[in-house]
Amino acid sequence: MQARARYDRIGHGYAATRREEPRFMERIAAALGDAGSVVNVGAGAGAYEPRDRYVIAIEPSGVMAAQRPRDRAPAVRAMAHELPLHDQSVDAAMSVLSLHHWDEHREQGIRELRRVSRGPVILLTYDPDVSAAMWLMADYLPEVAELDRRIFPSMQTLVDWLGDRTRVEPLPVPRDTCDWMLGSFWAHPERVLDASARNATSGFARMDPDVVDRVITTVRRDLESGIWDMRHGELRSLETYDSGLRLLVSHPS
Ligand SMILES: C[S@@+](CC[C@H](N)C(=O)[O-])C[C@H]1O[C@@H](n2cnc3c(N)ncnc32)[C@H](O)[C@@H]1O
Repeated sequence: MQARARYDRIGHGYAATRREEPRFMERIAAALGDAGSVVNVGAGAGAYEPRDRYVIAIEPSGVMAAQRPRDRAPAVRAMAHELPLHDQSVDAAMSVLSLHHWDEHREQGIRELRRVSRGPVILLTYDPDVSAAMWLMADYLPEVAELDRRIFPSMQTLVDWLGDRTRVEPLPVPRDTCDWMLGSFWAHPERVLDASARNATSGFARMDPDVVDRVITTVRRDLESGIWDMRHGELRSLETYDSGLRLLVSHPS
C-alpha cells in the first residue's frame, strides 16, 4: 500500500492516544539547538513539533493533517523523498517515527533531509534489533518483529546514509508516557486489549486481522491466568525500559 494511502487508512483517531511525551520533546528541543527554522517531515498531528521556532510541516496524509491543532502550521502535502524545498533552506530537519513508512524511498528521504538542512538532521526511530526483544514481539507477535526488520533501517545503515557526524542516543520509554506508541506497551499488556491503543500503532494496524485476533486472545488468556505477570510482571515496577527507541542527531560533515 502506498505511504500516502496508508495513514489515510490507519491514521483515524491517532491523536487520541499518541500524545506528545514531554521528556522526548525535551531531548528533541536540545538536539535542535538554536535552529530558528525547522522542517518536520511526516509531521502527522503535530506531536514533537517545536512551538517556538518557524516550522514547515510536511505530511502526505489528509487524515493526519486534519488532526493538527489550529495553532500549528498547516501541513504541506508532500513526501519525504521529494521535499519541495531548496538546498540548505532551513536551519534543521526532523522526522519523528515516520521513516519506516517511506518504503523504497527511505534512503532518498534521508538524503532529502540532509539536503534541505543547513544544520542538524534529527530522527526519532526504532532499532529493530532491540525492539524485537520486547515480550510482545518475542512471545506473541513475531510478525511485527519481522516487519520491523524490513522497514526500520539498522542504526549502522542510518549512520551510513547520514554521515559520520551522527550520534545515536537511546531513549528509554517511561512507564507513564502519554505517547502510547507500541514501545510503550512494555509495562502495559492491557493495551493489547484496547482497540484504540492498538489501532494507533502502525505495528498492529499493519497486521492481518487474524494475527491481531490471535494476539488479543493469547494476551487476554495469559493475563487472566497470571502467566503474563509470572513471566514479565517485574516490568510493572520499572520506571523506564529500553524498547529500542533511538534519537539520531546528525551534523553536516
Ligand atoms: C507514526 S506517524 C508519526 C506522526 C508524528 N511525527 C508523530 O510523532 O506523532 C507517521 C507519519 O508519517 C507520515 N508518512 C508516511 N509516509 C510518508 C512519506 N513518504 N513522507 C512523509 N511522511 C510520511 C504518515 O502519514 C504519518 O503522519
